Amino acid sequence: MNITIIAGARPNFVKIAPIIKAINSAKSANKAIDFRLVHTGQHYDKKMSGSFFDQLGIPEPHANLAVGSGTQAEQTANIMVRFEQELLDHPCDVVLVVGDVTSTMACSITAKKLNIQVVHVEAGIRSWDLTMPEEINRMITDSISDHFFTTSELANENLRKSGIKDDRIHFVGNTMIDTLLAQRPHFIKPTVWDELGLQEKEYLVMTLHRPANVDEEEKLKSLMDEVVHNTQELPLIFPVHPRTAKILQNLGVAHPRLHMIEPLSYLEFNYLVEKAKAVVTDSGGITEEASIMNVPCMTLRDNTERPETIDLGTNELIGTNPEAIAPAMKKLFSGQWKETQEIPMWDGKTAERIIEKLLEIYR
Ligand code: UD1
Repeated sequence: MNITIIAGARPNFVKIAPIIKAINSAKSANKAIDFRLVHTGQHYDKKMSGSFFDQLGIPEPHANLAVGSGTQAEQTANIMVRFEQELLDHPCDVVLVVGDVTSTMACSITAKKLNIQVVHVEAGIRSWDLTMPEEINRMITDSISDHFFTTSELANENLRKSGIKDDRIHFVGNTMIDTLLAQRPHFIKPTVWDELGLQEKEYLVMTLHRPANVDEEEKLKSLMDEVVHNTQELPLIFPVHPRTAKILQNLGVAHPRLHMIEPLSYLEFNYLVEKAKAVVTDSGGITEEASIMNVPCMTLRDNTERPETIDLGTNELIGTNPEAIAPAMKKLFSGQWKETQEIPMWDGKTAERIIEKLLEIYR
């Protein structure tokens, strides 16, 4: 079985690393399986892409479609045109896509139109918020995939309700957590730690990049102001995503306790999260990682496609109204934040289960 694996943007890299490792193990055990890794080039900076490959031991991609930035339509179209050629030049049995980024959707459509089997890892999750490009990507990818690897019982249920039969739904867990558990002993102290004299549980980490939070200058400014004014005397470390950086250039937000830094590598970022008092974020993946590491997590969104991080993890939906931040911080500082519980199947063995299943399906 020849699998073409797609990776395009930062969270994809974290999700494919253990899958590649599992394929290599199966290969070493003489299983008939091989892969070709295609990087679409949606994320291209060293900080957004290269450092993830280095740290997570992901091999050099066999092809880089180098699509770069653009509008949603430009990126989608460029990925499709280039991936179609890639598939014609290098036919495969299965295309494996992960997550919900533009590359996920564009490559699944392209593969399906060439009658190639598509499998989706992290299938079935839904925010039901169609203003998010990721939700559209999830819905379209799931509407044409052949097999669905899921992270939660709710994802299974969402897929069943859309008419997908049980024999195509495989509840395997979360490959992002495979990576987290494998890399946790190797986290790296970022230079900002000593530069700022940070101490365990004596600072907060923030990340913001969703269009709904960052594309409107006033909204972004009021969210940032409100967070920084409610973190008592603690420093707030904000690794800034390029999308957010562009908007911040004109905003002039500054505060002595607010430290805006470049995006961090995976091992450095998770070092900071593991030791933080809390994380404030609008990312989905970070809510999962914070939950597993039992770090309080406030999500600045009105919905989530990952409700298990709320029911079982440390995540709470604070919303996007800046007024909701003060009460949440009060709860944190009074020591009343919930503790995490075990999340079914998030045990570090998801990628092995995926490859085992694929070998069974595509014998
Ligand atoms: C994308 C994903 C999002 C994911 C996020 C993680 C989609 C629709 N969104 O959002 O789900 O959580 O990645 O980072 O796929 N840029 C750089 N350098 C890079 C990459 C991007 O400067 O290496 C700039 C681009 O010029 C662009 C902006 O960042 O203007 C946004 O990049 P884009 O890929 O469009 O979407 P993200 O907001 O990163």
